Amino acid sequence: MKASEIRKKFLEYFKQHGHAVVPSSSLVPDDPSVLLTTAGMQQFKPYYVGKADPMRDFGSRNATSVQKCFRTSDIEEVGDRTHLTFFEMLGNFSFAAPATQECSDGGRGGYFKKEAIHYAYDFVVNTLGIDRERMYVTIFAGEHGVPEDKESFRIWHEEIGLPKERIFKHGRADNFWGPTGNEGPCGPTTEIYIAANAEDALAGNGVEIWNVVFNEYYAKPDKTLEKLESPGIDTGMGLERLAVMLQGADTVFDTDLFLPVVATIRDAHPGLDDKTVRVLADHLRSSIFLIADGVRPSNKEAGYVLRRLLRRVLVYGIIRDIHADLFPLVLTAVQQVFGNTYPEITKTNEISDVWVAEKTKFEKALALGVKEIEKYGTISAQEAFMIYETFGLPFELLQELVPAKVKGVRAEDIEAEFKKHQEISRAGAEKKFGGHGLLLDTGELKAADEEELKKVTRLHTATHLAQAALRKVLGDDVHQMGSDITAQRARFDFSFPRKLTDEEVKKVEDLVNGAVQQDLPMQYVEMPIEEAKKTGALYFFKAKYGDRVKVYFAGHDLASAFSKEFCGGPHVTHTLEVGKFKIGKQESVGAGARRIRFSVD
Ligand code: SER
Repeated sequence: MKASEIRKKFLEYFKQHGHAVVPSSSLVPDDPSVLLTTAGMQQFKPYYVGKADPMRDFGSRNATSVQKCFRTSDIEEVGDRTHLTFFEMLGNFSFAAPATQECSDGGRGGYFKKEAIHYAYDFVVNTLGIDRERMYVTIFAGEHGVPEDKESFRIWHEEIGLPKERIFKHGRADNFWGPTGNEGPCGPTTEIYIAANAEDALAGNGVEIWNVVFNEYYAKPDKTLEKLESPGIDTGMGLERLAVMLQGADTVFDTDLFLPVVATIRDAHPGLDDKTVRVLADHLRSSIFLIADGVRPSNKEAGYVLRRLLRRVLVYGIIRDIHADLFPLVLTAVQQVFGNTYPEITKTNEISDVWVAEKTKFEKALALGVKEIEKYGTISAQEAFMIYETFGLPFELLQELVPAKVKGVRAEDIEAEFKKHQEISRAGAEKKFGGHGLLLDTGELKAADEEELKKVTRLHTATHLAQAALRKVLGDDVHQMGSDITAQRARFDFSFPRKLTDEEVKKVEDLVNGAVQQDLPMQYVEMPIEEAKKTGALYFFKAKYGDRVKVYFAGHDLASAFSKEFCGGPHVTHTLEVGKFKIGKQESVGAGARRIRFSVD
């Protein structure tokens, strides 16, 4: 079954069952707490909580869509047989009216577990024609105050007739979904898996194809759950996975969603290894969709994701000696596959211009970087890290360009450098050594006693405000490269090519002092790393963080915060405590890197 047929059958099925067909929303969501659209339910968040009226907007309490999605969580995995950054999600949704809301259709409308499960089963078995013996499901086992989902068990077992042996129960980690961003609807799930045969299904050895979420809760920014007034339905089924299964393909790159793209790359440069072809196919395809939705390469948020994808393509081009300009060729192939479904990708000139501009920019940075590395004898891991931060030359490219100079450096050493820089902001106050001697030493913050700790804490908050202000004044190419703070002095290193003018210094000071005077709360939210990245908070891209991180922000909420960064603290509780901020001496610390000293009074 062709991918276009799968889309069509899905939408038709739910249309016949009283759902409004809603077009995919943009990859750039309205929700400021989320970087990119990661799920079909994203555009429907307001309908679950009664903030928008589905009857007015769609003429129905039930909706269905095929949504363009992008997930950065798998970016490092791309190149294997299954992982992608861009994908399409088939979904059906239902929004019952809150009890308090006057409902134009009389009742509360919408549907819940019974219908959602029956629809999903019927579609998989009767429309897609998948043998029910190959199917097994998971349901929520109950955990952390959310009860076991006995109703879904009953529906699957008694109404659908699925044997108990093919109903598996799991906890929060597996069978509870959401929210997207730092708050929103979420709830227990039932998930449908398809195995190769009946035996594998009994062994629970299959592939998840459909996630049916029962949105019963609202997760607040502090992660506590509140019962939603009216429960809703949110389901998601990955089109690519379904295509692999229904087309009997070996990998997603062998389905009709990718074949023309893969063939284009192979024709343009025969002999490329599979991994390279897959990375190029994925990254070019997702870049095209991001650009079509208005994302432009930059050093922050979605723009940074796009820049990283495009630069990876360019780096592969150099390393693999690819002379063909793949972008325009792949653009044509992607348009051929997706142009009818997503007409926004047919703006050929606009999309190509973004590519050309980024390629030119990269080539310039590369030329500068190459000049820079000429100056070095041997390159240390620390220097390799700096070269990446400043010029965008990744280590793998240095290995290609100047193998002799980096032969002493291992990839792990570079990782360690990234890690060191990231710990600067993460370790924070956790590392205490009792009441005397060194109280705090994170490599960046050093304090010997309580008094000093107070001062260092104020200076630390000031570095967050300063980084935000520097970026506002000098542009988003500014990134922290390091800092060193004691009670006696504070230094902040960042990427920028020249001395700041007096006027720029003044502007930065004024911005920081403005934020101080507003007495903004300095607070943090702790969340899974992937959600944290979507908030737009600053972080070291390649750093290894734990699964959960703290995002410190100065402001009343995360979305409108003056500054937000991944960080372990410590910080003041309100910015007024920082005091008057003043920039002192400036100096250069290597090409493309500046250091400022600053004080707070
Ligand atoms: N929101 C859920 C998911 O993304 C189901 O649509 O998996």
